[in-house]
Amino acid sequence: LENGLMRTPPMGWLAWERFRCDTDCLMDPDNCISEHLFMEMADRLSEDGWRELGYVYINIDDCWSSMQRDSQGRLQADPKRFPRGIAHLAQYVHDRGLKLGIYGDMGTHTCGGYPGTTLDKIETDAQTFADWGVDMLKLDGCYSNSSYQEQGYPMMSKALNATGRPIGYSCSWPAYQGGLPPKVNYTLLAQICNLWRNYGDIQDSWDSVLNVVDWFFNNQDVLQPVAGPGQWNDPDMLIIGDFGLSMDQSRAQMALWAIMAAPLFMSNDLRTISNGARAILQNKLLIGINQDRLGIQGRRLIKEKSGIEVFWRPLDKGASALVFLSRRSDMPHLYKTSLKELSYKTGVYEAYDVFSERLLPQLKDSTEFGVSVNPSGVVMWYIYPVAEWKKEAGPGRFSK
Ligand code: GLA
Repeated sequence: LENGLMRTPPMGWLAWERFRCDTDCLMDPDNCISEHLFMEMADRLSEDGWRELGYVYINIDDCWSSMQRDSQGRLQADPKRFPRGIAHLAQYVHDRGLKLGIYGDMGTHTCGGYPGTTLDKIETDAQTFADWGVDMLKLDGCYSNSSYQEQGYPMMSKALNATGRPIGYSCSWPAYQGGLPPKVNYTLLAQICNLWRNYGDIQDSWDSVLNVVDWFFNNQDVLQPVAGPGQWNDPDMLIIGDFGLSMDQSRAQMALWAIMAAPLFMSNDLRTISNGARAILQNKLLIGINQDRLGIQGRRLIKEKSGIEVFWRPLDKGASALVFLSRRSDMPHLYKTSLKELSYKTGVYEAYDVFSERLLPQLKDSTEFGVSVNPSGVVMWYIYPVAEWKKEAGPGRFSK
């Protein structure tokens, strides 16, 4: 969507995967969906180095609203859990240099059973969000059907635009239509939405991450060409820092989301996150790769019988990223290949290991090398041709 927003994949924090529809503020005051939760996460984003790295959106998901619209037909926040209202929360978030996202549903009810946005309410809801100072809308698609969605998603795009407030627009539409043509028209989506959920919900497990990864790369011929500045495929939230992933698996999720040029919305508890998870999520070179200005989504190059898969993404200035993923469960596997076998042009290259943060010896396209990839882990390289980079020092640009 050419609204000037999200020229690189949006980054921030989204409540859903970690905090779901916990509305029990009596028994669980620190984790229930309430203004308190979002204010605490906003504090963490702004005080713990996240904002400076680009994690600027703080996004409310389902279960924020009251069960009833107000007397004028407008959505309203649950008065007990958001006593000062969404406009106040938006102000709090803006005061910290962050942006606020909110959640709605193109249908009669949200997936959690809260009031949805029916066709007759689209303009009202867009205006309400704009009046509150909201910066992004995720529009879900529960409790509707394909013809309803076909009308509603473009209408909301127009309505948001008509408010005059820049509001990033995340559409769950394709996820409700199987994510693939002919049912999904990605040309149209790219015109009306900044990002879109193509597939089912991520859960807090490695199985779930692999399920998402398989779907996206099995369908890369359809999905890869539609991504670009202002228009992103969304494989769903980062679950790094939660309970389901080991450190190696966490590195794998981060690396593959960077290859996919995916939005980086963490859904975790920033108040208690481990230093290990934080280091992965705050890796500057990795974020730089995700945020590459060309915005070209990467692809899976190879799926070996051995369980090693190789992924690649072209980057600005002739650079590129490579990810070696192991789906094995025995031990670190030594994978042998060369850049030539991975379709690199003739030349001399320098590679920087993204996680160990080490520069590797120069290699020619024909040089055979081995990478040791941990079980359910990755090795990720940032690569650039030496000739074109004589003056500009490569990874030095990303040093801490
Ligand atoms: C759907 C969406 C999720 C989340 C929930 C909320 O399942 O795909 O991301 O928003 O609804 O109920």
